[in-house]
Amino acid sequence: MKIKENFSLLPHNTFGLNIKTDFFIEFNSVEELQMVLQSDIVKSNRVLCIGGGSNLLFLSDFKGVVLHSNIQSVTIIKEDADSVFLEVGSGVNWDDLVAHTVENGWGGIENLSLIPGETGASALQNIGAYGVEVQDVIEKVKAVNISTGKVHDFSHDECRYGYRSSTFKNEMKGAYSITSVILKLSKKPVFKLNYPHLEEEVLKTGEISLTNIRKTIITIRESKLPDPKILGNAGSFFINPVISKQHFEALQTQFPEIPHYFVSETQEKVPAAWLIEQCGWKGKQIGNAGVHDKQALVLVNLCGATGSEIVHLAEQIQLSVQVKFGVELIPEVNYI
Ligand code: EPU
Repeated sequence: MKIKENFSLLPHNTFGLNIKTDFFIEFNSVEELQMVLQSDIVKSNRVLCIGGGSNLLFLSDFKGVVLHSNIQSVTIIKEDADSVFLEVGSGVNWDDLVAHTVENGWGGIENLSLIPGETGASALQNIGAYGVEVQDVIEKVKAVNISTGKVHDFSHDECRYGYRSSTFKNEMKGAYSITSVILKLSKKPVFKLNYPHLEEEVLKTGEISLTNIRKTIITIRESKLPDPKILGNAGSFFINPVISKQHFEALQTQFPEIPHYFVSETQEKVPAAWLIEQCGWKGKQIGNAGVHDKQALVLVNLCGATGSEIVHLAEQIQLSVQVKFGVELIPEVNYI
């Protein structure tokens, strides 16, 4: 176990903010976590669980204890002719896991290639891309209650998954530390290529296979999304807003080219990136914070920005989208 005081979180947030936490504790097992939870440091301080820090925006130094999982196991717990059930430690790097599953011919998460972060946080955030969400393959999430130290196995239904949302972000926010995730992957993969242009892009690399899907998605992501190691960012800064059909139709009359996705008979989803670009923000900057020039939904730390500078830019964007389209943009990134 690693316990550090007055610790810099620079390597633990993809925005590249040089902020500190009073205490940083990294545990390697459920037992170590349970031990730590009984300590005075944890009992007498505010606690924040983090993964790879790819969805966090720190507004100042953190007063309290940051808990980080270093549970690195990947174990087959069950398999049959069609499926393999993998229990994956919450500290496992998400993309390393995707690479491992693709190498083994197990389908289900290949469309989620190159998403930054760790497995525990992926289950909290319900990461999604190119027509797949991680909840599609989640059987169970194992987590430890921070107050009692008791282990609870959350069934898929108990996780209450929605678009970029779960019980761990809502009702159970801050109450549990995720220790492992059980995924059901397919030995006879059914490829999901409905996302616009995905199939034709995969075919350019050869036959349709897990390896070629992964390769294609990596190429697409690298062409649009900045590498956090080079340019600090947290992927999509806002979630794509879901608006009423009535509101959408009014917008469509005024902006006939507005892209949209069907949600239900009464609701439509519109891409936040499009709304932001239409407001003229793409490639713009305020101080050290900017809007990525290849994807308007990504806010970037151009050079030494503070969390407040990034929030200021986000607020200006929210304001102009509200004024032009009457749409509220909700951050996907969690402000701390
Ligand atoms: N668009 C613009 N301007 C831009 C970028 C996009 O107008 O600068 C429009 C285009 O019309 C495009 C549409 O927005 O067709 C959608 O763009 P894109 O396919 O790039 O996806 P997105 O809606 O911006 C979502 C996820 C991404 C995920 C991609 C691919 C959210 C909040 N974001 O982005 O997830 O990789 O789809 O599936 O749902 C993340 O969550 O961090 C993330 C990167």
